[in-house]
Amino acid sequence: MPAPEELLAIAVRIAREAAGTARRMRAEAIVDVQTKSTDTDVVTAADKAVEREVVEALRRLRPDDGVLGEEYGGSAAPAGRVRWILDPIDGTVNYLYGLPQYAVSLAAEVDGVVVAGVVRNAATGDEWTATRGGGAWRGERRLQGSVRASLDQALIATGFGYDPARRAHQGAVLATLITRVRDIRRFGAASLDLCQAAEGGVDAYFEKGLHAWDHAAGGLVAAEAGLRVSGLDGRPAGEDMLVAAPPALFPALHDALVELDAAGGP
Ligand code: IPD
Repeated sequence: MPAPEELLAIAVRIAREAAGTARRMRAEAIVDVQTKSTDTDVVTAADKAVEREVVEALRRLRPDDGVLGEEYGGSAAPAGRVRWILDPIDGTVNYLYGLPQYAVSLAAEVDGVVVAGVVRNAATGDEWTATRGGGAWRGERRLQGSVRASLDQALIATGFGYDPARRAHQGAVLATLITRVRDIRRFGAASLDLCQAAEGGVDAYFEKGLHAWDHAAGGLVAAEAGLRVSGLDGRPAGEDMLVAAPPALFPALHDALVELDAAGGP
């Protein structure tokens, strides 16, 4: 098994190329768009092209590994082998509108544990990396998340899934939560939200309904920057809920989300 640093080097190389493809396609206005699970859940030609490019690169470099991608799904990896988890364009709606908040997110997982990850903002070239136990980095700068402890002074990022009934529930949760925090932000790319939290650009982030490709790389970046990244009631972060918060803030945010039944609803 290669060291996490070796896997990260592969991920970074591939993510940079892939981000270049996404940016080029946008500049050339190749933004052919279709809908997926609902009318608001979109996929562009670039999501598919970038995923194909990354999967081909991984097959060339690491033919025995598994790959899970947002657009084409994938295979499980046998025990002890690497599975790559890819969101070719996280923030597809931002991509569609040309908002500079969309990213390639690529993580390497071994036996269910993410060991390396990169998130590259394809619009700006900003890049966040992490290896398990090796810290979170933005270029040469080691990252440290916020140390805020009080919920009423916390700036919290979140996001919404695409299912209308779920969105209604998420809106109801926010209607109360916003009265208890400094403010709420919704930037539109979960991986970048997690990186933002990793560098203290927001104090914390939570979202229900995420998939592994949304949070695998960014979740490691946030955890390595000192944030607690978890689901509710000690469950692992997952579709149910992901909360990333400074350890001192986590209990208050966690308890508020439980009280507001943020993981409930559809
Ligand atoms: C979405 C974004 C968004 C989050 C959604 C995700 P996509 O990913 O990360 O911020 O709120 O839950 O599905 O569809 O742009 O890859």
